[in-house]
Amino acid sequence: MAILHIPDQEQKLTEPAAIKSFLAERGIWFDQWEAGAELAEDADQDTVLQAYEHVLKPYMNANGYQTADVISVHPKLPNLDMLKTKFLTEHTHSEDEVRFFVDGEGLFWFNLENGEPVFCVICQKGDLISVPANTKHWFDFGPKLSVKAIRVFIDQSGWVPHYTESGVDQSYNALGLSA
Ligand SMILES: [Fe+2]
Repeated sequence: MAILHIPDQEQKLTEPAAIKSFLAERGIWFDQWEAGAELAEDADQDTVLQAYEHVLKPYMNANGYQTADVISVHPKLPNLDMLKTKFLTEHTHSEDEVRFFVDGEGLFWFNLENGEPVFCVICQKGDLISVPANTKHWFDFGPKLSVKAIRVFIDQSGWVPHYTESGVDQSYNALGLSA
């Protein structure tokens, strides 16, 4: 179950309906799917995709997504530091970034500007979120360094990160938020 934090206002939302409407008002689509499958830490990509095919396929077909893969992060992953750094600084993409969390947790941070405080959605098993194209955001694997999520793409080249190098992320990452 997701948790939404607004650190500058010391606010926290835990009700799924409240989180969904907070995000919808800001153009960010959020939903929750049944995520009952028990997956081994080292479950391979095909096993994960197959376990959720029944919800994934209709969603992809309805929204024009062409491909899906799985990002699987755990503390023993080779190149973990490099991977963590890649997502941890503020960036945008030219395509929406869609993630369906099937295990562990990950933190999506948003910097919408126009007077909005920076906020974070801690996503956990069953949470589905779509970060709109060109939205400033970053992603933290969190202190447990354990997250498994399905990613869907229209065109993978649209998911290349464009870094803003604003440095906004640093003080928020230092908070070490976790579910
Ligand atoms: Fe991203």
